[in-house]
Amino acid sequence: MISTQDKLSAVRGDRDPIPRFVDIHCHCLPGLDDGPATLQDSVALCQALVTDGIDRVIATPHQLGRFDGQSCPRAIRAAANTLNAALKTQGIDIEVSIGADVRLDERMPRLIDEGKVLTLAEGRRHLLLEMPHSVFIDLGPLLAQLATRDVTVILSHPERHSSLQVRPELVFPWLRKGVLLQITAGSLLGDFGPDAEATAWHLLSWNMAAFVATDAHDTQARRPRMLEAFQAVREKLGPKVACRLFADNPGRVLSGQEMCYTAGPQGLGRDE
Ligand SMILES: [Fe+2]
Repeated sequence: MISTQDKLSAVRGDRDPIPRFVDIHCHCLPGLDDGPATLQDSVALCQALVTDGIDRVIATPHQLGRFDGQSCPRAIRAAANTLNAALKTQGIDIEVSIGADVRLDERMPRLIDEGKVLTLAEGRRHLLLEMPHSVFIDLGPLLAQLATRDVTVILSHPERHSSLQVRPELVFPWLRKGVLLQITAGSLLGDFGPDAEATAWHLLSWNMAAFVATDAHDTQARRPRMLEAFQAVREKLGPKVACRLFADNPGRVLSGQEMCYTAGPQGLGRDE
């Protein structure tokens, strides 16, 4: 099958082919959180991911916070099995793994130990962590507890946090402790307002982020936008940086490997 990237590259005559993307943050499972309500909606979202050039996705329904008590691992696994079967039947070429988008909670280390909170691709290596958007909380104590379990925190969309928009340098101590930052594709395109857009580009330009992901919830207001964001990043920061953020590092999360990236700031992240 010819991918979206191959078609686009052929039209553009690109010297640098566009890689297949891996999405590590997507609310694509049916009936679990504020993502798709039905299996049909989930399949439509997955089709949108494929059209956007994504061939592997980690489904990350919300856990804890306002979804505390919902999205238990057994329900997440069952929903992913149902979705993968429907995608196969309908010939939609994407592989759905599971994880969770976990709201900051002091019970988290214990809940990971008990298997009640999911790590990405169930690898027990990377935890996708969401902070409250308008309250600043120091992650230091939680990071220390997770470090003893060899769990690395991936902080989702720091660019949307009000304190970090004003003082992005607040992430430096976390980066030094191994936290990885995930920027949301739509933020780079202005979907979450000018402050989130500016902060997203700032973090990327200073080489402080490891991933771009969709955080998609549907095919309308919170659609994927991965390909447009990739093209914008490639234009501004070069193809190597773009491939690292959209394909290489996300793929390493799936296979539980170390990232091919060193936390900045280290000057501009443009390819040399
Ligand atoms: Fe999310």
